[in-house]
Amino acid sequence: MNILIIGSGGREYSIGLALKKDQSVKKIYFAPGNGASGLLGENIAISDFHKLADFVEAKSIDLTIVGPEGPLVEGIVDIFQERDLTIFGPTAQAAQLEGSKIFMKNFLARHNVPTARYIETDSIEDAYRFINSLKVPIVVKADGLCGGKGVIIAASKDEAKRAVGEMLSGNSFGDAGTKIVVEEFLDGYELSVFVICDGKDYVVLPAAQDHKRLLNDDQGPNTGGMGAYAPTPLVNDDIYRKLNERVIEPTLEGMKAEGMPFSGVLFIGVMVVEGEPIILEYNVRFGDPECEELMPLLKTPASELFYKAAIGDLKSAEIEFYDKYAVGVVMASRDYPYKSSEAAEIIIDDIIHDDIEANAHISFAGVSLDEDDKLFATGGRVLVCVGIGDTIKEAHYRAYLLCGQVHFIGKQCRTDIAYQALGLEV
Ligand code: AMP
Ligand code: GLY
Repeated sequence: MNILIIGSGGREYSIGLALKKDQSVKKIYFAPGNGASGLLGENIAISDFHKLADFVEAKSIDLTIVGPEGPLVEGIVDIFQERDLTIFGPTAQAAQLEGSKIFMKNFLARHNVPTARYIETDSIEDAYRFINSLKVPIVVKADGLCGGKGVIIAASKDEAKRAVGEMLSGNSFGDAGTKIVVEEFLDGYELSVFVICDGKDYVVLPAAQDHKRLLNDDQGPNTGGMGAYAPTPLVNDDIYRKLNERVIEPTLEGMKAEGMPFSGVLFIGVMVVEGEPIILEYNVRFGDPECEELMPLLKTPASELFYKAAIGDLKSAEIEFYDKYAVGVVMASRDYPYKSSEAAEIIIDDIIHDDIEANAHISFAGVSLDEDDKLFATGGRVLVCVGIGDTIKEAHYRAYLLCGQVHFIGKQCRTDIAYQALGLEV
């Protein structure tokens, strides 16, 4: 099988790594890929969806996997399906679950899926009135895609009102913020739950936990995610049951009933509040860095999972995961998440350590390769050190041992990834 992966992050690299181990995969292409993905397969510099479809036909590519939300919301799946090409991901209509927070919140309300109390509005007066009725902190969200930055958690009513003013005037997020959602703050712990869907059937993957804040102890600004681990012991059978009954079934049935059956990955951002799963948001793609931990835990050949989901035949796939844990620690560049940083050479110590060789690896993201095959950190989240183990503690140890072997000027990483789970382990 020849496979094209759309995207350039650690998420797409980790899907590439899983496919590389898969006997039935012949060639992997990345569009556009990153400096390291070109070593796993071939990077191609095409972004126009029609031209990508031409490329897929010309190279006899059997399956396209879409990593990020942008191309999904912009309709890449619709264009490929019109041309009878097999592609993993939701249509533009179904991708509104992520593309518009207002669509998502109203969908949840229509189908009685538990979520924070909210209003959607483009009126300052309505937003202020609702803010006055809430307790602090208060959450203000821009409607459209903002690369994970469109959410303000305001500590006071004045701050919430300021955020509303800035979003509605178009100052902070442009058109993405001309409509907003204001909602109550949910106080609990967060989970990332991924459901692979084929429009009819679905498979729930082991739940993961991300660490969104830049600094240890969940301090500092929100980021795309500084590290994650899976499976998390913070989920028990009762929470899985509630998620299935109250969230996954009504959502997938609702999407079908509204004429947009969901196919691809449904990423459910869950806040568990006193044992009850409440939905923060949906995304229509894998989380990054969660994908980097889930892919190495997948026992079933990755091509089978993605291909069968894409052709609507998940029922015939037997999706299995190793009975192990994965911990991933993100290394980010010096000025992340504020601004881009100067390129810095990445030096990886040449220490041969059998345990690390066998049980840890790097998923590369914001990197480029120069003419001498040297890797450079070129910004944002640069790479993820992933450790695998029989316990979270073992996986955590291996991930951090690998982190100690990777150097570049200005590297930032949290030293407490998986702290909530480690606190539970004896
Ligand atoms: P979102 O893009 O909606 O997932 O929001 C980004 C992050 O903001 C989430 O991952 C949460 O950490 C936080 N967040 C969003 N909505 C709420 C809420 N209602 N209560 C508490 N935290 C929230
Ligand atoms: N790690 C969270 C996200 O991908 O949105």
